[in-house]
Amino acid sequence: MRGGNGHGTLCPMTQISPASQARKPRRIKARFIAPLAVVLVFIMGVFTVAILRVEANIRDQDIAERTAAVEKLFVQKLDKDTNLMIATMRAMMTNQSIERAFRNLDRSALSQQLSPLFANLRDKHHITHLYFTGPDLINLYRFHSPDEFGDEIDRLTTIKARKQQDAVHGLELGALGTLTLRLVMPWRHNGQVLGYLEIGEEIEHLISEIKDSLSVDMLVLVDKRMVLPQQWQRGQAMMKREGNWDRFTSYVALAQTIDLLPVALNDLTLRKLLVEGTAEIEDHGRSLHLSVVSLTDVGRRHIGDLVVIRDITALESAFQWSIVAVTTIGLLAAIGVLGVFYLALDRVESDYRRQHDLEHQLLRFNAEYGRILQLEKLSALGTMVGSIAHQLNNPLVGVVNLAQLAEREPDNPARTRELLGEIRGAGEDCRAFVKRMLAFSKVSCFDSKPTPMAELIEDTVLLFRQTENKHLPVETKLPDEPVVLTIDPILIRHALFNLLVNAAQATTDNGAIVITLEREQDPMRGVPGWSLAVSDHGRGMPPEVMEKIFVPFYTTHSDGTGLGLPVVQHVALLHGGQVSASSKPGHGTRIAVWLPNSLPDLPLNQ
Ligand SMILES: Nc1ncnc2c1ncn2[C@@H]1O[C@H](COP(=O)(O)OP(=O)(O)OP(=O)(O)O)[C@@H](O)[C@H]1O
Ligand SMILES: [Mg+2]
Repeated sequence: MRGGNGHGTLCPMTQISPASQARKPRRIKARFIAPLAVVLVFIMGVFTVAILRVEANIRDQDIAERTAAVEKLFVQKLDKDTNLMIATMRAMMTNQSIERAFRNLDRSALSQQLSPLFANLRDKHHITHLYFTGPDLINLYRFHSPDEFGDEIDRLTTIKARKQQDAVHGLELGALGTLTLRLVMPWRHNGQVLGYLEIGEEIEHLISEIKDSLSVDMLVLVDKRMVLPQQWQRGQAMMKREGNWDRFTSYVALAQTIDLLPVALNDLTLRKLLVEGTAEIEDHGRSLHLSVVSLTDVGRRHIGDLVVIRDITALESAFQWSIVAVTTIGLLAAIGVLGVFYLALDRVESDYRRQHDLEHQLLRFNAEYGRILQLEKLSALGTMVGSIAHQLNNPLVGVVNLAQLAEREPDNPARTRELLGEIRGAGEDCRAFVKRMLAFSKVSCFDSKPTPMAELIEDTVLLFRQTENKHLPVETKLPDEPVVLTIDPILIRHALFNLLVNAAQATTDNGAIVITLEREQDPMRGVPGWSLAVSDHGRGMPPEVMEKIFVPFYTTHSDGTGLGLPVVQHVALLHGGQVSASSKPGHGTRIAVWLPNSLPDLPLNQ
């Protein structure tokens, strides 16, 4: 069963709540930009920190690699010089005249044979010591100080060489506070130890060579417990240096590649450097990086440290520049992305506002439309009430007048009966009117089913013939094939009947009424359907009548209700169809009901 009052759904004003009307458009930009900015700043912050960490790692790695290179080069140079010493020593040991001079403890022969070689080694290869020592470790000849001899050599290298009867080399701290690379080798001849050969060099030239190669400064620090101050002073005088014994509390500088040590390199920095392995100081606007390489002597004792001083001003400023560059790029990128989002959101927001305004306008139109509809309804209601009052008033005035006449003639039963008959007639008119009104109200009920259209038309024509007294010919033009439409047969019959009655009322001569059923598409929507039309050759309608024929209660007949065509239209709408009318005054009228093949799901029918 389908049915209901479609008008309720046509009044959107009832669906608009004051809250929805007053709703403000959302501020999309304000809602999104702030969280987006936070997210972007966070992402850019993480990105910037990550890049800076990579940069810092590169910088630290560079510094660490340089320190490692210094250590490696220092060891390589020690090895290279040791190899030179070994080669020199072997060359001397193969020389028979030197061997003879040594065996004979012949100091002048040794001097004569080796002084030129020693001078060459000292000038070209930084060799500072060449000793010939007897098997009892009593010194025979010191080439750098020939007048000192006859003392016992009790240095670790010599003692170890005698003990191991093998070559011993390594760094050794001298009594005068000098750090020397020494090689001591026992000289055996025919199974007998002739004595010991010793070659040595101060390491100062090594650190200057490393400075030239790796562009770092170096400072050789030795534990003060290893050197006596007076001896150290003597050593400084001998090397023509002006060292400062009191510069550090626990350490003393034996050699350095810079004239003036940085002021910031004090006891505190030194302690930190020796504990942590690295330190950074500022010196006259320069950034200096300090690192240490541990120095071990031939007896594997820690004797001091080689402090590597690297000027990292350029590296630091490059790093700082990259901090500024990365932060600026990150910030600009964030601002750029934010700007793009801002513009996009601005566009979205303006679209949204436009849409919101349109919706708002639509709501206002709907509200106005609802108000107009309401007014139309009220005006229709007024017309209806006026018409009903008019329709009922005429017979009722007659009833009252006839009753007054009957009262005046109580003694004339024949006249009274006649008057009562007229009163009954007027009452029946009223009842017939009320009946038609009730028929109109029933149109709202809708019960569709597949209906053979030929039978429906035939039944309606039969009923029409019984009620119509002009006996007008009714012609039907139906398709050859049977047409079955899903419709409410009672309503369609009622509509067809109304059209036939109107056609009959308009026909003055014997003109035929024609009923046509033919396939037709809805021209507006292209929906397939059928057209059920009634044509007459009656008086037709002028345009001013035509435009009002679907207005409820509009009639040109004195006894009409003006509900016939509105009912036809209502029935058509209930079926998802429509009504069209064409007329020519003096020639006739055609009124067609278009019905779709299948019933649509219309709100009117729900
Ligand atoms: N076939 C037609 N030819 C000429 N005029 C018509 C035709 N059908 C309708 N009309 C005009 O349209 C008016 C409205 O018709 P409608 O059927 O709604 O009411 P009515 O026929 O006047 O009254 P009721 O149907 O209650 O008897 C008619 O009064 C008439 O003037
Ligand atoms: Mg009518």
